[in-house]
Amino acid sequence: MNLILLGAPGAGKGTQAEVICDKLQIPAISTGNILREAVKNGTELGIKAKGYMESGALVPDEVVIGILKDRIAGDDCKNGFILDGFPRTVPQAEALEKMGVVIDKVIEIFVPDEKIEQRLSGRRVCEACGASYHVDYKPSKVDGVCDKCGGKTVQRKDDQPETIKERLRVYHEQTAPLKDYYAKRGKLTVVEGQEEVADTTKLTLKAIEA
Ligand code: AP5
Repeated sequence: MNLILLGAPGAGKGTQAEVICDKLQIPAISTGNILREAVKNGTELGIKAKGYMESGALVPDEVVIGILKDRIAGDDCKNGFILDGFPRTVPQAEALEKMGVVIDKVIEIFVPDEKIEQRLSGRRVCEACGASYHVDYKPSKVDGVCDKCGGKTVQRKDDQPETIKERLRVYHEQTAPLKDYYAKRGKLTVVEGQEEVADTTKLTLKAIEA
């Protein structure tokens, strides 16, 4: 099964992708994580992407489409995959179609903008393994230390208040049109993001199984 998780930055796509990929035994592919890893390692891709990401802008389509195409050609994607953060623009969705990828379902996780700001400004991520925490909703056991690997947890540069506002603006302008795009194709289900992660997961799994 090929799935897309759609939603504003901080709606909880990454959190859901992590749980669902375990249940469905298919990989979750986050273009954001791939790009952040490239920035961390200072690769050519990372050098190209860094400025866009830190300012809250999207990385150019041709760069991200290339990454995605290589990733889904991997052996582990033969039985399907969950796309978290791709497509982000209509040209990216069209590129998927041109690659011959058939998308079974698109789940939009909907959370209002006011909540998003609260969620993202409290998010902390592990520098070493990428595990995600929230200072109020999901704190690590020891402040600043990752439960999973003992690495240091930090705030993402793009989780600063001004950058969050810019990411939301970009989302409404460039990514939200994908809702119509997939609704017209009969693929879209909207799930309301709940206070508890597990409650959102229940609704998401129900939407996938419907
Ligand atoms: P990316 O990493 O994809 O960032 P994003 O879409 O902005 O989304 P996030 O990962 O920040 O949020 P999320 O929805 O996964 O939320 P999460 O689960 O963490 O992209 C980063 C950048 O890379 C982009 O800005 C762009 O520059 C570039 N990029 C990536 N893909 C691209 C593409 N295709 N094209 C062009 N550029 C691209 O949850 C957020 C917080 O809320 C967490 O702290 C979590 O603990 C908390 N939370 C989650 N669920 C709940 C809940 N139910 N209740 C309470 N708190 C919750």
